[in-house]
Amino acid sequence: MTEDPGAARRDAAVRAQYEAYPYPPRDPQDERRRLITGSPSNLPEVDHYLFGGARDWRQPFRALFAGGGTGDGCIMLAQQLADRGVPAEVVHLDISAASQAVARARSEVRGLANLRFVQGPLHDVADLAPGPYDYVDCCGVLHHLEDPPAGLAALRAQLAPDGGMGLMVYGVLGRTGVYPVQAALRSLAGDDDLPARVALARRLLGDLPDSNWLRRNPFLNDHLPEAQGEEVPAGKLFDLLLHPRDRAYDVPQLLELLSGAGLAPVEFIVPMQYRPEAYLQDGGLIGRAAALSQAERWALAENLAGNIRVHVVYAAPAERAAEAAARPGRPTVRPLPNGIDMAALARAVARGKGMFKADLSGLPLSLPLPAGAERLLPLIDGRRDLNQLAAAMGMDWFTFKALFDKVYRVLNGLNLLLLRG
Ligand SMILES: C[S@@+](CC[C@H](N)C(=O)[O-])C[C@H]1O[C@@H](n2cnc3c(N)ncnc32)[C@H](O)[C@@H]1O
Repeated sequence: MTEDPGAARRDAAVRAQYEAYPYPPRDPQDERRRLITGSPSNLPEVDHYLFGGARDWRQPFRALFAGGGTGDGCIMLAQQLADRGVPAEVVHLDISAASQAVARARSEVRGLANLRFVQGPLHDVADLAPGPYDYVDCCGVLHHLEDPPAGLAALRAQLAPDGGMGLMVYGVLGRTGVYPVQAALRSLAGDDDLPARVALARRLLGDLPDSNWLRRNPFLNDHLPEAQGEEVPAGKLFDLLLHPRDRAYDVPQLLELLSGAGLAPVEFIVPMQYRPEAYLQDGGLIGRAAALSQAERWALAENLAGNIRVHVVYAAPAERAAEAAARPGRPTVRPLPNGIDMAALARAVARGKGMFKADLSGLPLSLPLPAGAERLLPLIDGRRDLNQLAAAMGMDWFTFKALFDKVYRVLNGLNLLLLRG
């Protein structure tokens, strides 16, 4: 992997961690009762953000999951592709045989035939699992590499020119408190083996003073048994507090990482979290924020929010990123609910007198929806296009479009409404 002995030691330690503690911990038998969905890599999102909501799914599709772990993302996408009958290949590439064994067992329980497993470092993707790929997922991995720009460049080189990526890296502010505890554990751990380190972390968590920033960060509770409803699994604790190589990114650092690989963000998930006006009341401040560049607004939102623990971003080759996402322009576009019951949402909005109560990673928000939204929402069923919705509402196109755009801004902002067509 690398000639620097320190880096080689860290590479080995990262691999040893994921052999001992595949992440996230999953029981393959659970595939019989549920499909885990989320961002990035959810098929309707991939279509919306990277293919203008208009990909022809009859055409072959290749996806790479770099550092696919125990398989959450690749199982979801492989299942969604299989359900739609897409001629697809989904490649799971990971250094950890133990993690890959869990992902493979999950795919076997589901009877998925479109997954292929390749063991090895993602830097060697060109030899081990060459592209071109229409889609590359790298979720929770780049921030553990010795050289994240080189890792991302290796993946980018395997991306088809009209393809895109779904990435997740840690956020600086939302992880406030994590790194001092990591440093404390490093200094206390001596030569302890991995299970002994986990035991040490459990003891330290029970002994931190009230002033400690990890204790004081209410938005981070992965390490708290109360929040998990049970003892925190060893692998989760290790990943958060004992990782041998771990860094976080603020928005400008992430943009630099992307641009170094010839990529640009299409959208952060959820988009609303990256809008300064979501956090501000003062019209003058909102006006000043609106005058900033897009990159400055994303960075400002992160600084205002303070609770963004991870950055999930869909990214595309820089030359096509601005055009990659779907837009609610044409009357033939179909709005798709993304994991939400629109009828229930309409009832909640009616109860809230037009206000929609949302939660941005633990920050409650009350968002106004325009009059008529409670009537429109239950009509959005993923089948009607905008034209048909206008007719069902008994509205002319322009009146309808003004209403729809306001509803879309809020619901797409929360990643609850996507487009197709
Ligand atoms: C935190 S887990 C994330 C798993 C998965 N992407 C997810 O989001 O559920 C990180 C994964 O990256 C893998 N990994 C770390 N460094 C790697 C490298 N250089 N090449 C390939 N995989 C790597 C680990 O083995 C582990 O399975």
